[in-house]
Amino acid sequence: MAQLWGGRFTKETDRRVFEFNASIRFDKRLFEQDIEGSIAHVVMLEKQGIITKEEKDDIVRGLTEIREEVEKGTLAITGEYEDIHSFVEAALIRRIGDAGKKMHTGRSRNDQVALDMRLYVRQEVLTVDGLLKELMEVLLSMMEEHLDTYMPGFTHLQKAQPTTAAHHLGAYFEMFKRDRLRLHDIYVRMNYCPLGAGALAGTTYPLDRAYTASLLGFEGPALNSMDAVSDRDYLIEFLSSLSTIMMHLSRFSEEIIIWNSNEYRFVELDDAYSTGSSIMPQKKNPDIAELVRGKTGRVYGALISLLTTMKGIPLAYNKDMQEDKELAFDAMDTVKDCLFLFTGMISTMKFQTENMAKSAMNGFTNATDAADYLVLKGVPFRDAHSIIGRLVLYCIDKNTSIDALSLEELQAVSDKFEPDIYDAVSLKTCVEKRLTVGAPGRDAMKQVIAMEKEYLKNRED
Ligand code: ARG
Repeated sequence: MAQLWGGRFTKETDRRVFEFNASIRFDKRLFEQDIEGSIAHVVMLEKQGIITKEEKDDIVRGLTEIREEVEKGTLAITGEYEDIHSFVEAALIRRIGDAGKKMHTGRSRNDQVALDMRLYVRQEVLTVDGLLKELMEVLLSMMEEHLDTYMPGFTHLQKAQPTTAAHHLGAYFEMFKRDRLRLHDIYVRMNYCPLGAGALAGTTYPLDRAYTASLLGFEGPALNSMDAVSDRDYLIEFLSSLSTIMMHLSRFSEEIIIWNSNEYRFVELDDAYSTGSSIMPQKKNPDIAELVRGKTGRVYGALISLLTTMKGIPLAYNKDMQEDKELAFDAMDTVKDCLFLFTGMISTMKFQTENMAKSAMNGFTNATDAADYLVLKGVPFRDAHSIIGRLVLYCIDKNTSIDALSLEELQAVSDKFEPDIYDAVSLKTCVEKRLTVGAPGRDAMKQVIAMEKEYLKNRED
């Protein structure tokens, strides 16, 4: 058991207490950030005349060596230390002696851990954003390819109106765009540096907090030292945005599972992204989509866990806050894996365009268009709705579709039907005439796709 404290204690910590209290098992992930933060801190200490140039140089050299050795694997981060901060400090003192003991001047583990986690999360926000962008690039190229891939659109999981695969995929494009905007907002809001807040009330050393903030790429220092060590809002916001990303991926997965089912056959998943059954030789299961849907729960879990942890904590730091890490790390890993695999899955997935068009044709997806046809011929919409309703009933009885009826059959219901009805209710017309902004008609979609392309070009960050 190697601890940074002990002066005021007369007894060793109980072993089980030590282990229960320790966080090194999971906060060793913050190793890079811990070193980076410490280097910025001592550079500032020297600039302010709090330590000498030699001391600063020794510390920076020592920390750099420690970083290299851990990366190479010649120095192991071991469980005898309480946390990553203790490990780094002990390794430094062992290496450079007394100068190492000055590193922690004007700092507390409270502002140190707040900084490390913020640096880590800031990077993760960018990584997740990049993965979303890759997914959106794949989506956009699929949209371009499937402008004329007709399919039924659903409400209540019942066939509603015809649309295209491009249009359906485009809905998810919009969702992921909003997800990226959320990440962008979070980044801007979280980009303030807690370092220099000390344990809670700042310090009497003449620290230059704006300087360390700028060395670490922050907008500026956090303006209240109690808030700086107590704030986990940024992480809650991030977990919330990760939950929303998972919710979107999960809905999309659910649709792919349905589309991939024997009854639908709208898509064929690539063999590399499906699995078989140990007993049923015919099976090709959409496991990746199911896992993405299933893993959504654990990401929500991380959000609810942290919200609950934080809700009763008085200011400032309390050890409860150590619980901000394990589940959050798990959530970040999960979302990155899901985004990566989901992108691979859909980029290799094939649409079964004939089945989709066939499905769009039967199921009365053109019923609204048939009613609109009568409206154009002067029938009030409510009457047209009822006429087509009767027609649908007639078709169900005869096991046929509106476009397969003879003109006589149609005219028996309304004398407004003329030969041009067949073109008006054809699948192609039903889709292509939908030309309002955001609708599936080819020309409308093309305009939107051009805008989305611009958007992706302009959001290189
Ligand atoms: N492992 C701790 C955490 O993650 C580091 C901060 C410890 N501070 C303290 N006052 N015990 O929150």
